[in-house]
Order: sequence, then structure tokens, then C-alpha cells
Amino acid sequence: MPQVLTEHVPDAGAEIAADAAWAQEVRELARRRDAVLLAHNYQLPAIQDVADHTGDSLALSRIAAASQASTIVFCGVHFMAETAKILAPDKTVLIPDARAGCSLADSITAEQLRAWKAEHPGAVVVSYVNTTAAVKAETDVCCTSSNAVEVVASIPADREVLFLPDQFLGAHVRRITGRENMHVWAGECHVHAGISGPALTAQAQAHPDAELFVHPECGCATSALYLAGAGAVPQERVKILSTGGMLDAARASTAATVLVATEVGMLHQLRRAAPEVDFRAVNDRASCRYMKMITPAALLRSLRDGTDEVHVEPGLAARALASVERMIAIGRPGGGE
Ligand code: 13P
Ligand code: SF4
Repeated sequence: MPQVLTEHVPDAGAEIAADAAWAQEVRELARRRDAVLLAHNYQLPAIQDVADHTGDSLALSRIAAASQASTIVFCGVHFMAETAKILAPDKTVLIPDARAGCSLADSITAEQLRAWKAEHPGAVVVSYVNTTAAVKAETDVCCTSSNAVEVVASIPADREVLFLPDQFLGAHVRRITGRENMHVWAGECHVHAGISGPALTAQAQAHPDAELFVHPECGCATSALYLAGAGAVPQERVKILSTGGMLDAARASTAATVLVATEVGMLHQLRRAAPEVDFRAVNDRASCRYMKMITPAALLRSLRDGTDEVHVEPGLAARALASVERMIAIGRPGGGE
């Protein structure tokens, strides 16, 4: 058995080489803790590579719900770890750095949602998974970018919908479903809002044969569809996708170049999935500082010390559970509504 040199682990945030010895120690500590390591597609490459599972928010929620491990170490942002705890309340859920928040989740509070609901009695509340547990507890059904369209389409056409908190994802869902009785909260993710229409247009002009993979949280999602509508880029080359959907599309792509409009951590999985394709970030500064708080040192500390443990007040978790369970059921083969 390899020797575990945990006494050399520096504080989280300090530099540590994510080398083979680090990976071996992470795997050994995870085995001792009976922990499954989950990593979101925006994590640092070393964290993605050492994890048991890497994926988008929907896939990771499903894995957390089904896991047999007694501990889940969630390498992602806080709402993702909180969602895992809601789905698996009897498991220990750790996040390597509890300060890893989300600007989108911060754009609506439970109090604001209660006030909005009071203005629209009888409306169905659809919350993106990028929300706090307190907001989920006020929600009828959660969704992710993978299944937002299916979730909204599952709601009877005569019911008003309150969709929150992302305005760009909301606009995308409204466009696809053609739903007019859907109100959208004006929140945004600072990283995706910064991937602008002009940046996408300039890149598309510089690479006229490229495909476009665009996350629906992006400020440029409307521009991408405008480019397609105006004939600047053929319609079939513009794909509005979740991070998991981008991976499926990468495996199927025949393009030489793909322009990627999302957080830059995504490029690692895309290049692994289709090494022959030239994946280029539309904005190479689109890096989520919260996602990048999960450093190699923080992951080691988490496994060594059992930190930071994620707690969701049981009453709140029970109220949030139904909306999250509906989210993981909708869009699943055999689990749709
Ligand atoms: P996905 O659901 O596509 O993984 O996106 C999560 C996220 O935080 C996007 O910024
Ligand atoms: Fe939140 Fe944006 Fe970071 Fe995703 S990229 S975790 S939405 S701040």
C-alpha cells in the first residue's frame, strides 16, 4: 500500500503539485473514507482527472443520488454540494472549499422569491439548480441547462410559470417552448454574461467553417441564434447546449474547429472527448473563480480532515427535496414526465 504523507499537506489555497504522487494520495484517502469524488466540467484539469465521475450538474446530481459510497466529495460549487446533500441526507457531503459560491445563485433570495410568488398566485415555480436550498424549498420543480426545456414543457400550457434566476437560460427556454405565460427573473452568471455577442461574432467571422457550442447561460446565446438566422453561420452548426450536451456533440462532431462559449474548464473534457478537433474558447478569460477555489491542496485537505462538511437544515432539505427529485426524473430515459 502506498505511504500516505499527509503531514506535508499545506493549507488549502497554497501551491501543491498535482502530480502522480498527489493523485495517488487523493485516491488512497478517498478509498479509506469510502468516498466518491465528483467533479464538475469546470473544475481544474487535475481535479477532473482524479475524480471518479466528471459531468454536468444534472449528471452529477443523479450520480450523488444513486451512489453507494458513505461520503460524497463534491468538487464544484456550493449549491451543487447542497443539492447532493438534499438528495442523500444520510451521507456525509464534503466540498473542498465552502467559499466556492455562485454569482447566479446569489441573484435571488428566498424572500425575493416569496414576494414574486405573491404577485403571481397559482404560478408554477421553476428554479435552475443554481440556487440555494432556501430557494429550492420555495420551488415546485428544479431544472438544469440539460433539461430546462423539458421541465417547462411538462407544465400544463394554461399555468403561469415563474422561471429563475437566469435571464439568458429563461430566454432560451421561452424561445424553444414558445411559451408566453412564462416570467423570467433578471439574474445572470457573471462568467457567462461576459461572453458577449460581439466576441462570438468576431470569432465566427475568423473561423467561418467552425461549429458553435454555446451554453444557454451565455450573454451571446441570442447572438448565436441571430448569426444562424441571418445566414452568417449555417443553422445546423449552432448548438445551444449544457456542458454535458457539449461532450455528446463533441464526440459526434465532424468539424475541424469548434468555438466554445462557456467557462474555460470545459475545454479539458472536450479535448479529451475529441482530440482531433480544435476547440477554441470564445472568451479565454471566462474562468469561474468559484470553481477554481477547489485546488489540489483543498481537495487533499478535504479528504484528510473531512472538511468542509455541507449541512442543510433537515426541515429545509425536506421541503427542497421534491423539487430536486422532479428535476432528476425529468429527461431521464424512462423517467420523464
Ligand atoms: P451545467 O448544468 O451545464 O453543468 O452548468 C452548470 C453551471 O454552473 C453553468 O455555469
Ligand atoms: Fe455560478 Fe457562473 Fe460559476 Fe456556473 S460559472 S458556478 S453559474 S458563477
